[in-house]
Amino acid sequence: MKELIKNITEIYSPSGREDEVRNFIISQIKDYVDDYKIDKIGNLIAFKKGRSGKTILFDAHMDEIGLVITHITDKGFYKVEAVGGVDPQTLIGCRVQFKNRTGVLGVEGETMEDLKNNSKNLSFENLFLDLGFSCRTQAEEFAPIGTFGTYTACFADLGDRIVSKAMDDRVACAVLIESIRNMKDSLNNIIYAFTVQEEVGLVGSSVAGFNYDIDMAVAVDVTAAGDTPKALKRISMELGKGPCIKIKDAASVSDISVVNKLKQAAQANMIPFQFEVLLFGGTNAASYQRTKSGIPSGTISITTRYVHSPNEMVSMDDVKNTVKLVAALSNTEI
Ligand code: CO
Ligand code: ZN
Repeated sequence: MKELIKNITEIYSPSGREDEVRNFIISQIKDYVDDYKIDKIGNLIAFKKGRSGKTILFDAHMDEIGLVITHITDKGFYKVEAVGGVDPQTLIGCRVQFKNRTGVLGVEGETMEDLKNNSKNLSFENLFLDLGFSCRTQAEEFAPIGTFGTYTACFADLGDRIVSKAMDDRVACAVLIESIRNMKDSLNNIIYAFTVQEEVGLVGSSVAGFNYDIDMAVAVDVTAAGDTPKALKRISMELGKGPCIKIKDAASVSDISVVNKLKQAAQANMIPFQFEVLLFGGTNAASYQRTKSGIPSGTISITTRYVHSPNEMVSMDDVKNTVKLVAALSNTEI
């Protein structure tokens, strides 16, 4: 499964540019689902029939955070803006990728004082992108205004721990792919929604469930870790302690029936789990709650260190247990 995670996190598909990752997912699941379709805004929806007459939707978002070019200078440098939650701090010293070309970011400053202040208060106002061009014509020809980029991929295998860009949320896409491939037979009908544009406001998920009669929706996504030196004391999520059953985050409170069913499924199948209360953030569960006349919704989270950086770290143990929890809920009476 590491190979799958490596491959899927190395794809460059920021929000609104999900074609490549969607094609990859289709190639992985098409022989294992009863049917699949792509809706009008690009969500990939796959189906597996069950016996209970009840339907669970599992969601994983396909997009990743990125950058977009907003302006080109005479000397062939670019100004950029974030696509989703990119912290300018993460951009200094790392590489970015625009199409097949590597780029780096620099800090502006015409005096030593300016440079010092700008470096302390990094923002998209004082950063510039350098893709190695020396004039506007070259730069414009390669990447006109509106071109999207992402962090450069560099997967690392540290044993149980693995590091890559876009674990958010490709690791969950890999979890759903793996559970689709493993699932011989399911009690409930399952809809797998691989959604677009989560990072810019839960866009894909706000329509993905609209055409279906869904009894329960579960987003699978990453969450923050509280287990590094002097990490936030008020959160408890740790790597290696099992998938998190989300109680709440800043965008929604998980439906208590979903929390209870996940807990029951985990306990009945001896899957370790942790409860999660996140002080910020949100997942696609928030939009399924508000779809149609309301769908009971919750989230399974994979604890992730350094979220929204080029080096997001997860535990393979947690990932494998998340696959098990998805399978367990699929076979639980809801
Ligand atoms: Co995210
Ligand atoms: Zn996410």
